[in-house]
Amino acid sequence: MYRVSIEYLKPGMKLGKAIIKDNGTVLLNSGIRLTEAYINHLMKMGYDTVYIDDDDTSDILVEDDLRERTRLKAIRHIQSLFSIPATEMKKEKKQTMAEIVRSVESGRMKEKIANSKSLKNIMAVSYEIVDEILDNKMLSGLVSLKRNDDFTYKHSIDVTVLSVAIADKFLYGKDKILELAKGCLLHDIGRMLINKNLYNEPRRLTKEEFEIIKQHPKLGYLTLKDITNIGILAPHIVYQHHEQQDGKGYPRGLRGDNKMPLPTKTTKKGYIMPLAEIVYAANVYDALVSPRSYRSAYTPDQAFFIMRRLSETSINKEVLKVMFDVIPAYPLGTTVIITSGKYKNHIAVVSSVNQDNLSRPTIRVIMNERKKKIIPFEINLAENMHINIAGIFI
Ligand SMILES: [Fe+2]
Repeated sequence: MYRVSIEYLKPGMKLGKAIIKDNGTVLLNSGIRLTEAYINHLMKMGYDTVYIDDDDTSDILVEDDLRERTRLKAIRHIQSLFSIPATEMKKEKKQTMAEIVRSVESGRMKEKIANSKSLKNIMAVSYEIVDEILDNKMLSGLVSLKRNDDFTYKHSIDVTVLSVAIADKFLYGKDKILELAKGCLLHDIGRMLINKNLYNEPRRLTKEEFEIIKQHPKLGYLTLKDITNIGILAPHIVYQHHEQQDGKGYPRGLRGDNKMPLPTKTTKKGYIMPLAEIVYAANVYDALVSPRSYRSAYTPDQAFFIMRRLSETSINKEVLKVMFDVIPAYPLGTTVIITSGKYKNHIAVVSSVNQDNLSRPTIRVIMNERKKKIIPFEINLAENMHINIAGIFI
């Protein structure tokens, strides 16, 4: 199977991976033959890429790092928990930031969250996620297929998977990693207290609107702190997940020192806690490889390119180094275009990832420069250093 953009789809093509709705139910199952109506529906809903399966690539099995059951459960529980603050806000019609903060601090919403079944469920599913991710040498690089709006729930899970894998490389113990997972799953809960439309505007936000968005980590922290089940660490991760190394992040402008975020590292006053530095990097990556209302998704290699420029100033450079060892720049099933050599402009699919050289996978060339199907053949890029590729969604 391989990943293609929605515009490439034609009736009769076979879906390689199921499409999961925002509420955690299956919209279209894998193996289904697409029809004109299905394609139009996917387009209307805002999906921008899907996996398809054909004879040339049916042996390329793109496996998720999480079991599908775990992922669906996690989406449902997050959505259910996040609906508590969302409903409260709708009821109260609070407008100004001061009003929202007062409402959060009144304790009513906190009590509802603390006593909810969905919070217990999220705590339980965080154990399952950690168990499934720990000790993976690297991740598949597969992120959930998201729509260009309302991506919060799937995003929360993808950020959790990536953060847990990175923290594992820095040798955090399982108890700390569990706290991290909880913080990740809940990191954007503060968004639910802010007018939803602000996140879906297909335009640049005004300064005032952005000032409101900048408060979501603090609102999340205020919502979650002092809830016994959640513990102390997770609410602080939520509070700090948009802070940057140079102090230009928000909401407090904490700084980072670009040192390894080791479990033994102590956090000085005014500095970001190490686990939040990990979540920040994971958050940036997942936002880049997901479609947004104002742009389409970047491919993983494009996201890496952008993140390299953010190294040291916004992203902790040591976290970034480890991240590049955890996710392949060209994940299995990624479509690429050859950019140099005899096969320039041919289209290929990543057929296996070389564990020792994540940026030089083996590719299967399936189309010529005119995008016409050819008899497939493979090139191992680790042995053909003169051939370069770039990620592309055909
Ligand atoms: Fe956020």
